[in-house]
Amino acid sequence: MRRRIDVHDGDRADTADMTDFDRGTGWGRDEAPLSAVAHTGEREVETTLRPRTLDSFVGQPRVREQLQLVLESARKRGVPPDHVLLSGPPGLGKTSLAMIIAAELDTSIRITSGPALEKAGDLAAMLSNLAEGDVLFIDEIHRIARPAEEMLYLAMEDFRVDVVVGKGPGATSIPLEIPPFTLVGATTRSGALTGPLRDRFGFTGQMEFYTPEELEQVLKRSASILGIAIDDEGRAEIARRSRGTPRIANRLLRRVRDYAEVRADGVATLPVVRAALQVYDVDELGLDRLDRAVLDALVRSFNGGPVGVSTLAVAVGEEPTTVEEVCEPYLVRAGMLARTPRGRVATALAWEHLGLQPPPEVGRLDAATPSLFD
Ligand SMILES: Nc1ncnc2c1ncn2[C@@H]1O[C@H](COP(=O)(O)OP(=O)(O)OP(=O)(O)O)[C@@H](O)[C@H]1O
Ligand SMILES: [Mg+2]
Repeated sequence: MRRRIDVHDGDRADTADMTDFDRGTGWGRDEAPLSAVAHTGEREVETTLRPRTLDSFVGQPRVREQLQLVLESARKRGVPPDHVLLSGPPGLGKTSLAMIIAAELDTSIRITSGPALEKAGDLAAMLSNLAEGDVLFIDEIHRIARPAEEMLYLAMEDFRVDVVVGKGPGATSIPLEIPPFTLVGATTRSGALTGPLRDRFGFTGQMEFYTPEELEQVLKRSASILGIAIDDEGRAEIARRSRGTPRIANRLLRRVRDYAEVRADGVATLPVVRAALQVYDVDELGLDRLDRAVLDALVRSFNGGPVGVSTLAVAVGEEPTTVEEVCEPYLVRAGMLARTPRGRVATALAWEHLGLQPPPEVGRLDAATPSLFD
């Protein structure tokens, strides 16, 4: 068995995985129970909970089926599969899938991240260490430095890099062959990827938010791994409030367990789950304090909008990027906020969620069609 997992990522503290808007916001979003980004120290438990095979990976039926075909056909042809880009919001399972790809191919995986590849030399070192068929996983690939990115083009296309030796007029470039490998890139912001880089991936898996039913399955599996006693109703309640994100579901499960052990008899029944989530300020729709503050400002201070995101951010004392990238995706998806060319608009559901009567002209946004407004 030659499978190995290698992490080459010098500066990868837990914070390296955070996006800028998660750092040091007044709300302490990085430790907020509903943040989709991993908390400090959360990686260890996440590793325990990671599904190891495509079959045990819950949800994402489309990506799973497509990926299965890519992997199976490569296996039949006896070549490494095309490079794979996994894109989607934090906590939906991109890293898990990357590791599953290597496991399914029965090869080693080498793990690094965009921010760790500051110089072309950093990437050259990683590439020259690959064995044939290895998976190279670059997390947050949109944050890769330019010179490394340019080196990556050639490596992805021709399995070759040009290493420049020396400086000035005497500099020479030495071509270096690399064994065929599969690059798996993950990004939370596929829009930030340059065209040439995006074009070099043979397959892009667009990760979607999970349905409550899928999250129930995730929770069932996690509860059994962690030995947490929770009944069906309790599971369904956590699933409903987890913003379509397995990372959040798993985290709420652990917080509920704490509550159940300290304040109840250890079993997470529906009343126990409800009481626990109230302590953690998670409301029935999975909104937290900041989400509610945004809705509240939009509805009460701006009469439902339209209002620009910067104005809205000032009203809640937050950075515009935090409002835009942390709160809005879920509010849009939950059908409470619409992004229109004239600004942000509260839907009837938002008014109702705050216990207010929406004005008659306010539109209703079906949760199933938020993309129309995105
Ligand atoms: N489909 C799934 N089935 C079961 N558990 C999952 C699934 N997807 C994610 N998880 C759980 O959620 C956690 C977060 O997943 P993962 O780290 O793969 O997300 P990610 O998309 O890489 O997030 P980030 O963008 O922050 O890097 C994992 O520890 C895993 O336990
Ligand atoms: Mg990840």
